[in-house]
Amino acid sequence: MRPRLIACILAALPGMALAQMESGDPFAGQRLAAILCANCHRIAPAGPGPATDIAPSFAAIAALPSTTSRSLRAYLRTPHANMPDYRLSREELDDIVAYLLTVRR
Ligand code: HEC
Repeated sequence: MRPRLIACILAALPGMALAQMESGDPFAGQRLAAILCANCHRIAPAGPGPATDIAPSFAAIAALPSTTSRSLRAYLRTPHANMPDYRLSREELDDIVAYLLTVRR
């Protein structure tokens, strides 16, 4: 019984690590995005768009094959010429990434 239990726990570990990476709260992320990102990005697929089209919509970003939780984190942690440097906290980053990935179709 014991060794099996241990095997079960070990088998579950990679899944738990993945869940950990997506630990953000998409609802909090959506609220944050509405404040921080909606000036330039259309953040909800059906929602109202910003006054400008300089930035791709979140749905378009989420649909890119290259978009992953990792790539979004890397992008948002580095400064970009056309985008404010937010210096998001770890939690804000988690939340926004979680939200962005929910608009993927
Ligand atoms: C001042 C306008 C502005 C704001 C505010 C803004 N962005 Fe952007 N963002 C841009 C522009 C413009 C680009 C396209 C950059 C380019 O093509 O060089 C971009 C690109 C991106 C990309 C990369 C898209 C790709 O092609 O891979 C991500 C991800 C992103 N923004 C997320 C966010 C998030 C999340 C927020 C809010 C925390 C945000 N942006 C706020 C203007 C903005």
